[in-house]
Amino acid sequence: MRLKNKVAIVTGAASGFGEGIARRFAQEGASVVVADINYSNAQKVSSEIKAEGGKAEALNVDVSDNLQTKSMFDNTIKLFGKLDILIQNAAIGMKPTPFAETSEDEFDALFKINVKSVYLGAFHGIPIFRKQGHGGVIINTISTAALRPRPGLTAYNSTKGALVTMTKGLSLELAPDKIRVNGLCPVAGDTAMLEDFLGDGPRVEAYSRFVSTVPLGRLSTPRDMANAALYLSSDEADFITGVMLEVDGGRCI
Ligand SMILES: NC(=O)c1ccc[n+]([C@@H]2O[C@H](COP(=O)([O-])OP(=O)(O)OC[C@H]3O[C@@H](n4cnc5c(N)ncnc54)[C@H](O)[C@@H]3O)[C@@H](O)[C@H]2O)c1
Repeated sequence: MRLKNKVAIVTGAASGFGEGIARRFAQEGASVVVADINYSNAQKVSSEIKAEGGKAEALNVDVSDNLQTKSMFDNTIKLFGKLDILIQNAAIGMKPTPFAETSEDEFDALFKINVKSVYLGAFHGIPIFRKQGHGGVIINTISTAALRPRPGLTAYNSTKGALVTMTKGLSLELAPDKIRVNGLCPVAGDTAMLEDFLGDGPRVEAYSRFVSTVPLGRLSTPRDMANAALYLSSDEADFITGVMLEVDGGRCI
């Protein structure tokens, strides 16, 4: 029970890495807000957590929307009385496209959902942490794509690059408040988003190409991300801030 009595918001928790983090946090004693734009899947995840004896509630949130993000925090306080951990994980991917051929609409959507959302989470979340006065944890799901980009996903990769700077800058701004801010950088993972990254060509070949670049010989999993998020959120990591933790089987070496 490494997160006993903690309250955590996990965005993008209806699927993939976020779902894995939400389930694991609940097993470790946290009350979890399963926040996602896919409300039916979020409800399914929260019901299953509750059925296993955990504490969770689903919220229907578009994290790129200012008012909906504010409501997510207001509702978290109404439901669970406080906030200890904010996992900003929701994002969209893209199909491989040369940067110069990426449409303006796609570019704008990527930056709105992947980057502006993290600003909105900070804007509405940090005052709550500060008011509570006992520190806090923010984790942003970034990507190895920010640290060691592949060709063809430059618009998406750039959103993750922005989050590296945002995470490091915020970690400095919030250190006096004992609010730790870290990034998790998974290598390609077996989630719904991977289908975008694999593109429209033969799936098996594209998948093998990804795996062949990972020294430990496999893609990342929600379990890998949940374990890393658990460590960074727990008191064991209370001297760790501003770190981009690669969950990547050695891909970035
Ligand atoms: N899968 C990969 O290969 C990979 C690799 C590196 C980083 N990531 C990052 O991991 C994170 C989780 O992705 P995943 O792989 O689990 O994908 P996923 O598609 O399984 O999950 C993403 C979740 O985010 C939700 N979401 C999307 N837009 C939203 C919005 N506007 N508001 C609220 N929720 C929204 C989706 O409904 C979905 O449930 C993302 O930040 C992604 O960029 C993924």
